[in-house]
Amino acid sequence: MTNARDTYNYKVVRQFAIMTVVWGVVGMLVGVIIAAQLLWPELLPSVPWLSYGRLRPLHTNAVIFAFGGSALFATSYYVVQRTCHARLFSEGLAAFTFWGWQAVIVAAAVTLPLGITSSKEYAELEWPIDILIAIVWVAYAVVFFGTIAKRKVQHIYVANWFFGAFILTVALLHIVNSAAVPATLLKSYSVYAGTQDAMVQWWYGHNAVGFFLTAGFLGMMYYFIPKQAGRPVYSYRLSVVHFWALIFTYMWAGPHHLHYTALPDWAQSLGMVFSLILLAPSWGGMINGMMTLSGAWWKLREDPILKFLIVSLSFYGMSTLEGPLMSIKTVNALSHYTDWTIGHVHSGALGWVGLVSMGSIYYLLPRLFGRTEMYSVRLINTHFWVATIGIVLYIAAMWIAGVMQGLMWRAVSEDGTLTYTFVESVKATYPFYAIRLAGGVIYLAGMLIMAYNVAKTIAANRAVEAPIPVPAAAHA
Ligand code: HEM
Ligand code: HEM
Repeated sequence: MTNARDTYNYKVVRQFAIMTVVWGVVGMLVGVIIAAQLLWPELLPSVPWLSYGRLRPLHTNAVIFAFGGSALFATSYYVVQRTCHARLFSEGLAAFTFWGWQAVIVAAAVTLPLGITSSKEYAELEWPIDILIAIVWVAYAVVFFGTIAKRKVQHIYVANWFFGAFILTVALLHIVNSAAVPATLLKSYSVYAGTQDAMVQWWYGHNAVGFFLTAGFLGMMYYFIPKQAGRPVYSYRLSVVHFWALIFTYMWAGPHHLHYTALPDWAQSLGMVFSLILLAPSWGGMINGMMTLSGAWWKLREDPILKFLIVSLSFYGMSTLEGPLMSIKTVNALSHYTDWTIGHVHSGALGWVGLVSMGSIYYLLPRLFGRTEMYSVRLINTHFWVATIGIVLYIAAMWIAGVMQGLMWRAVSEDGTLTYTFVESVKATYPFYAIRLAGGVIYLAGMLIMAYNVAKTIAANRAVEAPIPVPAAAHA
């Protein structure tokens, strides 16, 4: 019989992988509900906890931290073990990160609809939950870096650099931005005031995009694309340049969220310049991922998991071209406050974060349950097409609506009065809200297909553990 210490810890990977799918369905369902509320404001009974203002942060927290977070935990724990040829450091702490993170999610799901919020976007949770997040995150860092420290392979594979940077930076961002003075058990006030508060919040907010929604997912890209394609990373040197350039540049771009505000002008311009520079490392990374397929492009025709992974990179490229464009002050004067921003967010969220997570989980899951592939490969393919159609409907509708709103709001008649009232722009947006809702429902349908496929894969098999190779054996 193999000793547990001679195998990888797949249990915690399995738990997070399954919860990725569960929270994906829940978070996207809430997304669909709020998209429907924008179309039919009277859709739900008129009680405060079902109001748009309370469900919206529930959606963002569920998709980013519950769905995205669980995918990041699952993949980072898998990748760090496989590439270090070492079992996760500390069973107990690894289990604690799973249960602790689920407790954070449940606490968010209860407090946000009740209106208990710090009102800082993507950092809405109140101070007791913030403390729990900090403790879970420190445990995560100990497990991850502890595993790196006990590795049997000298080299630290580049995916781990991205996961490591994501873990360290999110700890820093969370602790600095959440610093607050508690007034009661469920209410606190930020230690920062006025413009400083806004600056710290968007330093956090933008780096939440850069590190929570990007760096960790790039870690996935650097492991799962080469694995699924059966090819080495296109340029390892480029991956190292990509890493340092990306993490250095992201840190300075936050002020592009505060154009034309009380923030000093020079800080706004600095944010814009760094956002423009950010195009280079982002595209360097995207090209590196895509070119990994060179010589094996034909696999894209047959392998739906590769389709998920490679198309996610196309959306990554698209949203990181759009982001720098929107950070230019004159462009932002049009795009800010409009649905263009929502289109940008979801091309990154549905296209990049969503697809790369789904592709990675499709790779992982069969391996965690002793199979070579999912219950149905055809259903993976169906999911891919359904999801892609959903994304295109969603983001195209929001782009058109956003540019239209921006142009309507600034249109001036010959006598100097505004050409359109605000309500006219709302009315003109309705058809696009209907298209976005359709896109959202279709994307959610894809997620349900995935949930079915995952349930069938699990039901037909037993959980397995994989042996750790003895030194000098083949690579992970
Ligand atoms: C079925 C899929 C989804 C639907 C229908 C949906 C729908 C929506 C809607 C209606 C909003 C509010 C827009 C507004 O206030 O005008 C929103 C906001 C947001 N969603 Fe989604 N969403 C979905 C999936 C996702 C996913 C997977 C993510 C992230 C991984 C995500 C991240 C966000 C973020 C960050 C915002 C806030 C954007 C901002 O404040 O600018 N969404 N979503
Ligand atoms: C080079 C990379 C990127 C740059 C320079 C960038 C830039 C921007 C800019 C200028 C805005 C609008 C700010 C405003 O008018 O308030 C924005 C909003 C946003 N972007 Fe990006 N973006 C990038 C990539 C991404 C990616 C890959 C994602 C998602 C995975 C993403 C998610 C978001 C979110 C969630 C918001 C809305 C924030 C809010 O107001 O709530 N961005 N981004």
